[in-house]
Amino acid sequence: MTDPVSTTLLLTVDPTAPEPATMTRAAQVILSGGLVAFPTETVYGLGAHALNAEAVARIFRAKQRPSTDPLIVHIADLADLPPLVDAIPPAVADLAVRFWPGPLTLVLPRSARVPDLVTAGQPTVAVRVPSHPVAQALIRAANAPIAAPSANRFSRPSPTTADHVLADLAGRVDVVLDGGPATIGVESTILDLTSDPPAVLRPGGVPVEALRALLPDLTLRTLTMTEGQTAPAPGTLLKHYSPEAELILFSGSPNAVSARMARHAAEQIARGAAVAALVIGHAPLDLPAGVTVVSLGADDGEAANRLFAVLRQLERSTDVILARAPAQVGLGLALWDRLWRAAEGRVVQVE
Ligand code: TXA
Ligand code: MG
Repeated sequence: MTDPVSTTLLLTVDPTAPEPATMTRAAQVILSGGLVAFPTETVYGLGAHALNAEAVARIFRAKQRPSTDPLIVHIADLADLPPLVDAIPPAVADLAVRFWPGPLTLVLPRSARVPDLVTAGQPTVAVRVPSHPVAQALIRAANAPIAAPSANRFSRPSPTTADHVLADLAGRVDVVLDGGPATIGVESTILDLTSDPPAVLRPGGVPVEALRALLPDLTLRTLTMTEGQTAPAPGTLLKHYSPEAELILFSGSPNAVSARMARHAAEQIARGAAVAALVIGHAPLDLPAGVTVVSLGADDGEAANRLFAVLRQLERSTDVILARAPAQVGLGLALWDRLWRAAEGRVVQVE
């Protein structure tokens, strides 16, 4: 296959019952070393045959992603795990019953079969079983593990639609499977089972509280939680999910946040900036005229679903995005993490 590809083939698939002929075609591209972007329940992934190092190298080139940032390997079910790992920690069985297929990625001791490029040379491999019927069908049709990061250019917001993938990667990926919008909208929760105690490296679609019910000694080792320290996982860089507009996160009680956001918005408008405010839920905001108020949704689930699409939309029309920080519980922790990264760490803490 040439690199970059001359044309990207866009194939529409039924998200609940993907057409077998389409999936066979996409699987052939995977098996011949090509790149296929596909929907998962979290975000769209940019897939290649996980055991074909050449194909995996194309992912890094297409995304312009540094090779120090390892990839998640997607499998169809737990039975596909043994060849990829060196050992299966006891917790895997219960976690798999409860959360697979679904938005949970497990970091496990790798086997020698997994190319170094997939793991960034680390002794561990990240594995997940996606629940999306198109992702499932692609893995099964290829009968191979599929390495897939989110299908965005490096440091761009993750894609939740095929249009987002094309905006970032047209001409750099062989096939895009359009299965409609991703349902969850934020990426999987990454759980490191090679550390003692086990640690969440990235909050995501599975709430940390649900994991803690099975793993009482679970800790958080996310960049958000360890501000100012070295990134615990190579890929948890601060400049991530960045929209082109400047985003500032405001954290504190609703009234204090509203007042501080209003002051900041007024200053920015006086400078001639186009200002938007992002809110989740219904707590009232009293902002100056001229601010575009964008509701992410009534609750954290809706907000997760819309966040990346709204960031991509607003960056075109806005210079400054002011966001009210969600409470760091349930899906709110994942939202907080993505907003914090989009803000590149800019948080205004008010009383
Ligand atoms: O929901 C998701 O997880 C999506 C869909 C496509 O499955 N994928 C995704 O991949 O978000 P990506 O590459 O954008 O994010 C994967 C994260 C990176 O931050 C990477 O550093 C981390 O997983 N990761 C991968 N392998 C790892 C490992 N062996 N140890 C620690 N972190 C790892
Ligand atoms: Mg990503």
